[in-house]
Amino acid sequence: MPLVNSLELIQKARDHKKAIAAFNIHNLETIQAVIEGAAELNSPVIIATTPGTLGHAGIENIAAIVKVLALQVNIPIALHMDHCTSFDTIVECIKSGYTSVMIDGAHLEYSENVELVKAVVRMAHAVGVQVEGEIGKIGGVEDDLFVNEADAAFTVPAEAKKFVDDTGIDTLAVAIGTAHGMYKGEPKLDYKRIEEIKNLVEVPLVLHGASGVPDESVKKAISLGMAKVNIATELKNPMVGAIRKSLLNPEQNDPRKYMGAAKEAVKEVVKNKIKLCGTVGFAAEF
Ligand code: 13P
Repeated sequence: MPLVNSLELIQKARDHKKAIAAFNIHNLETIQAVIEGAAELNSPVIIATTPGTLGHAGIENIAAIVKVLALQVNIPIALHMDHCTSFDTIVECIKSGYTSVMIDGAHLEYSENVELVKAVVRMAHAVGVQVEGEIGKIGGVEDDLFVNEADAAFTVPAEAKKFVDDTGIDTLAVAIGTAHGMYKGEPKLDYKRIEEIKNLVEVPLVLHGASGVPDESVKKAISLGMAKVNIATELKNPMVGAIRKSLLNPEQNDPRKYMGAAKEAVKEVVKNKIKLCGTVGFAAEF
């Protein structure tokens, strides 16, 4: 089916104490892995790109592939721009058919962050596109964005409320103890903080940095109100692992073989994460 708005998916997921999995993709095979995996489980899904991916593959190319593959399946799929710091890139994404965007002004002073996010919200809402904002600072590495442990800052619930009110965003990314990338130790999620934020703001909450977070922790975060779960690194690792394994054979020079193996490895993780988010069969609701 044609691409859908992500907010409808996320809101309905929240109503059912589920979350929509949002997967960061990088190329044709990772898009296929996400869409095929979600379709096999009859689950809605969000396909996300970072600015780095757009630099690698091209906004129009990614949007064209996602739109064509989405038409071939009967599940709702949204196309989301993740962690974008540029107003202009967001305009380009929307022109190419993205159905939601995240404007990341977390590195800015509060008032500058609000100004940037408000401008994006005004423009995006005018054309029916939803906007995710972030308050607090999620640690770790995502593309060229690096927030070290000392600079990472948990979201303050009262600030979250003010930020949502000041900007008019549709969904809110919060820093509650996860970080982008895999963890060295076990992440400690601040469940109390999730509850406090959830009780103060009306918009659905987004869990970033879900790679390497134990399943039970993700489940608990979803039960407390996280309605979108972002996964990037946990798709990259099996992908490169499968490629490495294929290339142990020095004769192997067929991209269809080693990329095919990579696609299957990614699809496996996609399906496990969708199960974790509780949305198997949930496409029937849309
Ligand atoms: P991970 O790389 O930890 O999965 O984080 C993904 C993310 O939050 C994308 O915005």
